[in-house]
Amino acid sequence: MKVVCTENSQVLATRLAKILRTPVVDVQFSRFPDGEQYLVAGDLDDETIIVGSVMGNDALVQLLLLVDACDNSVNRLVLPYMAYARQDKRFRQGEPISARAVAQALSRGVSDVITVNIHEKEILKYFSVPAQNISLAGDIGAYIRTLHLDKPLILAPDDGALAFAEQVASANGWDFDHLEKTRLSGSEVRMAPRQLCAASRSVVIVDDIISTGGTIATATGMLYQQGAKDVYAACVHGVLTGGAYVRLMATGIRDVICSDTIERACSKISAADRIASAIRRP
Ligand code: R5P
Repeated sequence: MKVVCTENSQVLATRLAKILRTPVVDVQFSRFPDGEQYLVAGDLDDETIIVGSVMGNDALVQLLLLVDACDNSVNRLVLPYMAYARQDKRFRQGEPISARAVAQALSRGVSDVITVNIHEKEILKYFSVPAQNISLAGDIGAYIRTLHLDKPLILAPDDGALAFAEQVASANGWDFDHLEKTRLSGSEVRMAPRQLCAASRSVVIVDDIISTGGTIATATGMLYQQGAKDVYAACVHGVLTGGAYVRLMATGIRDVICSDTIERACSKISAADRIASAIRRP
């Protein structure tokens, strides 16, 4: 077995390979003069673990090319982050189900898929090969324990993330709740006033994705207005697009923590252990 990865999943893939005690295949990445991507993978094995977060269009194409380059082996695809997963339904006539289109494209040439906190578990059915999802809720809880906060309140920014907040909180005996969010545009959210027990408490807002940071920034401002002692944010996928980290730090948030499904300077939690366990599972 060997591990091979796209450019943006090098750290996670190397951590995973170390746990699995297996080598990482060297891949040369380049572009043609017109911008088209090109790659050459080194010596592969009969079984290849392909690790590639899809953060955008370039990453998607690179992953498709890498899977194709590995066509002499049995390929297991680790998809730590899957862009387009939030368009998982046809909300109005004429729209694509983008999650389905991406899942179907990525099913070609692989034997199975492992995702990490995929935005909606229903998306797994769009892969045409067996697909399983693992959760980093326990790892986020473990990281929060290292902050030594006094009985933190774990908050989901909306009811969709409540189950995740519960997973983070309940194993540690912490309170959890959710805020109510109305999305005004791609980058703006409004939190409806809600009675929270945030006064004088440490609050950790947990979500699967921080993208523009609008959700967390609004929630943080609201919680400080309600007298929260300190506010942290923890997510699995730190997309952090368009200056999101700077915007969040300007709110007075104590810290923003994410995992290495997307490799960032604030990636303080690794998905590698959980992925390795999923790979080893019969
Ligand atoms: C939405 O359903 C997701 O779980 C996140 O809450 C959302 O993607 C966060 O987006 P943003 O950081 O742009 O507010």
